Amino acid sequence: MMWIHCFLFLSAIKPLFGSQERHFKWEVEYMFWAPDCIERPVLAINGQFPAPTIRARPGDTMVIELTNKLQTDGVVIHWHGIRQHGTPWADGASLVTQCPIKPGETFVYRFKVNKPGTYAYHGHYGLQRTDGLYGFLIVDVADGEKEPFRYDGEFSLLLSDWWHRTAHEQQIMLSVKPFRWVGDAQSLLINGRGQYNCTLAPGYATSNSSYPPCNFKGHEQCAPTILNVLPNKTYRIRVFSTTGLGSENFMIANHTMTVVEADGNYVEPFTVDNLDVNTGESYSVLITTNQKPNENYWVSVGVIARPFIIPPGLTILNYLPNSPRKLPTSQPPRHPNWDDLQHNKNFTKSIFALKGTPKPPRKAHRRIVLLNTVNFVDGYIKWSVNNVSLVLPGTPYLGAIKYGIKEAFDQRPPPENFASDYDIMKQAPNQNATFGNGVYVLDFNTTVDLILQNANTMDPNVSGSHPWHLHGHDFWVVGYGEGKFSDKEVKKFNLKNPPLRNTAVVFSYGWTALRFVADNPGVWAFHCHLEHHLLMGMGVVFSVGVDRLPELPPEGLACGLTAELLMRRNHT
Ligand code: C2O
Ligand code: CU
Repeated sequence: MMWIHCFLFLSAIKPLFGSQERHFKWEVEYMFWAPDCIERPVLAINGQFPAPTIRARPGDTMVIELTNKLQTDGVVIHWHGIRQHGTPWADGASLVTQCPIKPGETFVYRFKVNKPGTYAYHGHYGLQRTDGLYGFLIVDVADGEKEPFRYDGEFSLLLSDWWHRTAHEQQIMLSVKPFRWVGDAQSLLINGRGQYNCTLAPGYATSNSSYPPCNFKGHEQCAPTILNVLPNKTYRIRVFSTTGLGSENFMIANHTMTVVEADGNYVEPFTVDNLDVNTGESYSVLITTNQKPNENYWVSVGVIARPFIIPPGLTILNYLPNSPRKLPTSQPPRHPNWDDLQHNKNFTKSIFALKGTPKPPRKAHRRIVLLNTVNFVDGYIKWSVNNVSLVLPGTPYLGAIKYGIKEAFDQRPPPENFASDYDIMKQAPNQNATFGNGVYVLDFNTTVDLILQNANTMDPNVSGSHPWHLHGHDFWVVGYGEGKFSDKEVKKFNLKNPPLRNTAVVFSYGWTALRFVADNPGVWAFHCHLEHHLLMGMGVVFSVGVDRLPELPPEGLACGLTAELLMRRNHT
C-alpha cells in the first residue's frame, strides 16, 4: 500500500519539476545508402540516415552519449541554435570547444535546452555535415504553455544538397594546388530523399535536359516522404536547411505560407508564396489545406543565389483520402529565378520579431567589421575575413584560453576592420591574405556590433552571398544595406523590432549588421554556414569571459597542448 502511495505521489509531483533528463546512446557509422537513388557511403547515427529527430521541452537536460565507430576519422556534433549557457564544452565545434572524438571513443554531450523552437544538430568537423551527419532537434513548448499560433498537425522537413563525391574526396579537391572546385550538388534532398536520375513529375524538363519518370514502389531509399494531410486543417511545417553550398527556395503549389518562427524565435506573422531558406536557418510556416480536396499538390525545393542547374527536390502534399500515387495535375510550381536577388532581399527584410521579443541595447560598446573575400594565400585559393583565412589550431581554443596555453594559437588579435580604401566592387586583388587563428576577445556582458561586408570575389563581377551563423548566442539583425558600410548607417539601425536569430545572410555587394550581447562565457565560432567556405577559412572565433568558467571537463581536451597539460597534471 505504502509503495503505491509513494509512487503515485512521485509521479504526481513530477510535472511540478517540469523538466527531465533525456538520454540517448548514439553510434556514428558509415553505411551505404542511396539518398538520391545512387548508392554511396553516408554518415549515419544508429543506422539511420538522416540522423534521428529528437524532441525535448524547455528546461530539459539532453544527455547524448556519442560513440565514434568511424575507424579512422574523428567526429563531433554541434547543436545548432542551442545556446549552451554554462556548458560551452558541449557545443560540439571541433577544435573550438573540443577535440574531435577519436575512433572507438565515446563523448557525452550534456546540455540544457531552454527555448521552444526548431533546431538541428550536425557534424562540425571538416565537411562531415555534407556526408549526411544531420538531424532535427525540436523543442516543444513547456507543458501547459501555448505557442502564439494554433495548428492541427505538423511536419519537419530537413533540406539538404547532395553530392556523389564523399566529403573526403571533396576535402582533398579543395586542399590541393591547383584547387579543384567541387561544383554544384547532384541533388536536393528533403528529409534525406531526392531523385537523381528520374523525376516525380512526368514530363518535367529544363531547357537542356529532360528526365524519365521515377517508378517507386515506396520502399526505396530515395522514394519521397509523402506529407499526408486532411482537408481544411492548419499544419505547421518546420524547415531547417543543412545544405553545404546551396541556398534554397521552398514552396507548396497552390498554398500560401504564413511565417511564424525563424531560428527558434517567434516572428511577426507574414504570408508568402515561397520561402527562402539559407543554410543554417530554420523557419516554421503555417499552411491551411483549403484547396480542392480531390487533388494532391507539389512540395518543391529549388536553388537560389547560384545558377539553377539541377531539378527541384520534390514531394507530395497528399490530401487524404486521395491515393499518394495520384499525381498533381499541373507541373511543379516555378521558383523565383536563381538570380532574382531582389526577391531574396524582399523576403529577408520582411522578417520582424514578434511583439514582446527582447529588444537590443541602444548602443554597442564595440564594432567589428568583417570583410568577406576569396583570396590566394601561398598560392592556394582560400576564403577569408579581413584578409585572414582561418586555420583551426591543433588544440581546442576553449581549453587553451582557460589554461593560458599561449603557444596554442596566434596571440595577436585579428583585425577589427579592413583597409578603408578597399574597393568592394572591384575584383579581389588575389594576393596578400594570410592564414591565421587569432581570437577576438569580447568583454563579458558587452554589446557588440558585427558588420558583415561583402565584396567582389576573384571572378570579375561576381559576389556571392554568405549566411553567417553565431554559436552560443542569438543576435538581432539590425540592418542590411547595399555597397560599403559607413558610419552614417548606425543611426538607421532597426532597434524597434529587429528579428532575433542565429543565422543571417550577407547579400552580394552589400552589408549586414548584427548586434548581440556577449553574455555567454565560452569560446564561440562565428562563420559562414556554407560548409565549403568554412572549411576554406571563412570564419572567426570569439572568446567571452572564459575566466568565469569552472574547471573544464577533461574529456574534450585530450588532444594538442591540452592533452600535454592533462598528462602533466596526472603525474603531479
Ligand atoms: Cu550549423 Cu557552426 O554551425
Ligand atoms: Cu560563404
